[in-house]
Amino acid sequence: MRRLVVTGGCGFIGSHLVRHLLAAHPQAEVVNLDLLTYAGNPENLADCAGNPRYKFVRGDVADPAALDQTLEGGADAVLHLAAESHVDRSIHDPGPFLRTNVLGTETVLRAVLRHAVPKLVLVSTDEVYGSVPEPARAAEDAPLRPGNPYSASKAAGDLLALAHRNTHGTPVVITRGSNTYGPFQFPEKVLPLFLTNAEAGQSLPLYGDGGNVRDWMHVEDHARGIAAALERGRPGEVYNIGGGNERTNLEMTRAILRLLGKPESLVRLVPDRPGHDRRYAMDTAKARRDLGFEPRVPFEKGLEETARWYRENRAWWERVKTGAYRDYYEKQYGDRLRAAGPTAARR
Ligand code: NAD
Ligand code: DAU
Repeated sequence: MRRLVVTGGCGFIGSHLVRHLLAAHPQAEVVNLDLLTYAGNPENLADCAGNPRYKFVRGDVADPAALDQTLEGGADAVLHLAAESHVDRSIHDPGPFLRTNVLGTETVLRAVLRHAVPKLVLVSTDEVYGSVPEPARAAEDAPLRPGNPYSASKAAGDLLALAHRNTHGTPVVITRGSNTYGPFQFPEKVLPLFLTNAEAGQSLPLYGDGGNVRDWMHVEDHARGIAAALERGRPGEVYNIGGGNERTNLEMTRAILRLLGKPESLVRLVPDRPGHDRRYAMDTAKARRDLGFEPRVPFEKGLEETARWYRENRAWWERVKTGAYRDYYEKQYGDRLRAAGPTAARR
């Protein structure tokens, strides 16, 4: 590979993917197109800034001119991760989700066609299948039943990509990843939110009864899964990339408290997220068989390393948790925490 373009590389998964690609393709230039929204943080790639094979372009994936400028030097592949990614924010205001995740994805698809890029990997999510009742697991051909504005916008992106493949032959491969955790994750997502709140001795606002189930995957495994789809994924195909670590939110919360030596009295059961999907669970046999992908990081080990990273990088998250973050926190949790009162989880 000579030139790889990543969108959303200043975000959580994108930054790990950029690092992975620079190491796995020692001849390739890796170009990162990112708008630097509230979630994009150049500090996430500070270690790559001096690398002559790494290039940053600030631009919007919904802007065809930004894509033309990025792709005019040619590209062997585009890995499209740029998105609005947080469910709670999509419930407050779906507008930016439709713009970036739907219109932006369509704009990337057209640019890939215009510039004859040989491969596009569209990074999607297990959320598009909606809540999956026990003991079922959603395979790639399961119906899409998104349950919130974020996942509806991601499902729309997936459907546009498959329609593009059908109509124009666009060489797009879709990955659907499960809940991802690790260093550099923005502390609006539950795991870094709870790790950083617990470090600071603040409440952990657990939604509903804490019984919702997510399948946790370490970010380095997710980056390897996306890279496997780049190398071995067949255009027009969808691959489920999962961590194989199903946990209830309460189990995950207790594991955090145990690791940090913090009391369970920090946990507050707060009013639920509206339309909260109960369980995500995917059948990942196809990625194992066709991509040779297996997650490697056991949850307990990954969680311990992640907790250590947040402890050792307090300056990173303290900077992130200022300014607009505080307004968001008050909007999302102010009333919830006041309504919850001092109730600890007792299940
Ligand atoms: P993130 O919110 O941490 O990062 C998103 C990045 O995209 C940021 O750097 C942001 O600046 C950039 N961006 C947003 N809008 C843009 C635009 N219009 N143009 C250019 N750049 C823009 O997200 P993440 O958690 O790293 O997720 C990355 C991708 O993986 C998303 O597509 C998400 O749907 C998908 N995904 C995430 C998870 C997860 O658990 N985090 C799981 C499965 C799939
Ligand atoms: O499953 C993949 C998806 O995982 C990705 O597509 C999304 O981009 C990513 O944000 C994530 O979505 P979730 O909604 O599952 O992640 P979140 O961290 O917001 O919530 C995880 C679980 O924790 C969910 O059941 C809601 C619960 N939760 C979340 C927050 C923020 C709480 O109980 N309290 C909280 O404060």
